Amino acid sequence: MPAPPFDAATATTVTTSDGRTLVTFGGCNYHGLAHHPRVVRAAQDAFARFGVSASASRETTGNARPHELLEREAAAFLGAERVLLVPDGYTANVAAAQAAARTHGVALLDERAHASLHDAAAAAGLHSLVYRHGDTDQAAAMAAEHAEHGVVAMVDGVFAADGRIAPLRSLLAALPDDGLLIVDDCHGFLTLGPSGRGTVSHLGLDDARVAVTTTLAKGLGCAGGIVAGPGCFVDRARRTTAYVCTTPVPPALAEAAREGLRVMRDEPSRLERLRDNAARLRGHAVRLGLSVCADPTPIVTFTLGTRDDMEHARIALDAAGFRAPVIDYPGGPAPVYFRLMVSSEHAPGQIDAFAAALADAIPRPVRAAS
Ligand SMILES: Cc1ncc(COP(=O)(O)O)c(C=O)c1O
Repeated sequence: MPAPPFDAATATTVTTSDGRTLVTFGGCNYHGLAHHPRVVRAAQDAFARFGVSASASRETTGNARPHELLEREAAAFLGAERVLLVPDGYTANVAAAQAAARTHGVALLDERAHASLHDAAAAAGLHSLVYRHGDTDQAAAMAAEHAEHGVVAMVDGVFAADGRIAPLRSLLAALPDDGLLIVDDCHGFLTLGPSGRGTVSHLGLDDARVAVTTTLAKGLGCAGGIVAGPGCFVDRARRTTAYVCTTPVPPALAEAAREGLRVMRDEPSRLERLRDNAARLRGHAVRLGLSVCADPTPIVTFTLGTRDDMEHARIALDAAGFRAPVIDYPGGPAPVYFRLMVSSEHAPGQIDAFAAALADAIPRPVRAAS
């Protein structure tokens, strides 16, 4: 069930239809760049120059200068040989899977990999094998058994639904020499690693078998998706129908994304603030006795008693001035759960006030049990 629609938003608040402003711990606008004045101005200026849509595939008549510049600048930012820009993160996974399917036949998928990775493997005609969450021994056994068909592992860098960092090093070790690893880094990009380069950098991996996909909608606060990696792989992605047969991100949003990357370069302290805020929120959750993943990511998920208990807690938090999403989204710790996201724009006081409200909202039997 979606959260009620909002009528306006800032980096840390949403305004509801009855005119109340709530501090939000939802959304994945990890640096508030969707509202950063420089990013908004870059989009506004470019909307005036380019209109609101490219209106055609880049391979026909929709290729605008900002698309090419963004690809080059994103490659430089990530330290990738090449980057391909596509309409969104979902399409990035489909393009990457289609590129992999030119040379490989089997997709290895964590059972909690983002649904778009499962969809992408199926859409690309890869034979999907699903291993238990984080169980790289099982993944290794499957990879060995199917090595002759060519194996590509497809996994989130940071799992969207529980905030866990994937064991990418072990997964890579589990692959045959000609294997491929596609890392969907929608939640690691601009949250983990030096300069926010993502989970692969955070884990210090440097391997030509790795390609990365990400949305530009979360850490960068814009829209679009990219496939980043070795030139030969990205060139293959450039020949897929997922790229060739889709209208690209509007040029104005490509301009906004370029400005977002510059903001991240100019304001490196954002990453530290995000990590401090994530640790602060996680620390509060632990002190409240909630069972949360310890990995240092800005996603904190947990359950509280029954579905009704969680709905009551959500309503109590809403009444106290906070939006804390209870979501029904695949891959989480339960069918329905709280998924909180923190950003570098939250003030520590907002996080502390939220934790106090959460303590009051937790149903008594749950607290007694913890
Ligand atoms: C892990 C993950 N992969 C892919 C996507 C899809 O990205 P987009 O919304 O840009 O299509 C999302 C976000 O919704 C996500 O969380």
